Amino acid sequence: MSSRPAILIARNIFPEVVDKLRQHFEVDTNEADAPLTPAQLAERLQGKVGVLTTGSERVDAALLAACPQLKVVANIAVGYNNFDLPAITAAGVLASNTPDVLTETTADFGFALLMATARRLTESEHFLRAGQWNRWALDMFAGAEVNGSTLGILGMGRIGQAIARRGALGFNMNVIYHNRSRLNAATEAECKARYVDKAELLKSADHLILVLPYSAESHHAIGAAEIAQMKPTATLINIARGGIVDDAALAVALREKRIAAAGLDVFEGEPQVHPDLLTVPNIVLTPHIASATIATRKAMAHLAADNVIAFLTEGKTVTPLNPEVIGQG
Ligand code: GLV
Repeated sequence: MSSRPAILIARNIFPEVVDKLRQHFEVDTNEADAPLTPAQLAERLQGKVGVLTTGSERVDAALLAACPQLKVVANIAVGYNNFDLPAITAAGVLASNTPDVLTETTADFGFALLMATARRLTESEHFLRAGQWNRWALDMFAGAEVNGSTLGILGMGRIGQAIARRGALGFNMNVIYHNRSRLNAATEAECKARYVDKAELLKSADHLILVLPYSAESHHAIGAAEIAQMKPTATLINIARGGIVDDAALAVALREKRIAAAGLDVFEGEPQVHPDLLTVPNIVLTPHIASATIATRKAMAHLAADNVIAFLTEGKTVTPLNPEVIGQG
């Protein structure tokens, strides 16, 4: 029997990353890529000291209690609302995520979704594919202007800032933002973004993009009351997390044209999608792919692997979420 430590990769990842991990560990994989139930995850983690997770696997007190030998949980995502971080820290387990490597790619996608939504890209494509295009018309699929409009950003971390730069520098947009804490003056100037309160953001944005982390505090940050404060011509884009938008309220608002359109990459209870969102035309829907380029997804998987390797072989970390556990245990 090998004396090398054993780890689990909870979902299927790139073979080159598996090979890299196999240089150090006994590696259990999930090549079938079926999401594991909490019970299956706990079972597969028996005897393992590390795990690479995705947003589909929840790491909480119950899992940690069932897997007391676990030392490191590395999320292949920048968001980590699938982690109960206080419980992980209390268990003395190191947690990591994958910041930075996905910032620009995710900002690109946020902009793609914004433009597709404002310019009615998928709605018009469905029309064409359905054979309904039999004449051109001046107002056919006329959408909202992007260049020179007001871009509102809710959540101004790394990705929000990268979106601000695209809007200001690439599309001459007037960029306003709201965040729990205001950026310093130099960063605001570099992003050409102006801090406003949330009410002003909702009222003034022609395009409102959500880039804030999910938490109890941000649950339904955009619901019926907030949508009611937006312009009837506005578009709403969510590339952050499901649950930040009240999807049922959004479907009603879109149907009643209280805002012009929405673009969603994330959903409450995904991969389930609220059925009412599927029947409104003025929406662009994508399956949580904002960071999905081959290069970026590989970089994310490598970074998660590097966290596990650094911690289990040298007691070091690369992008820890709870560095206070280092040196414990
Ligand atoms: C994707 O949603 C991520 O958090 O990386």
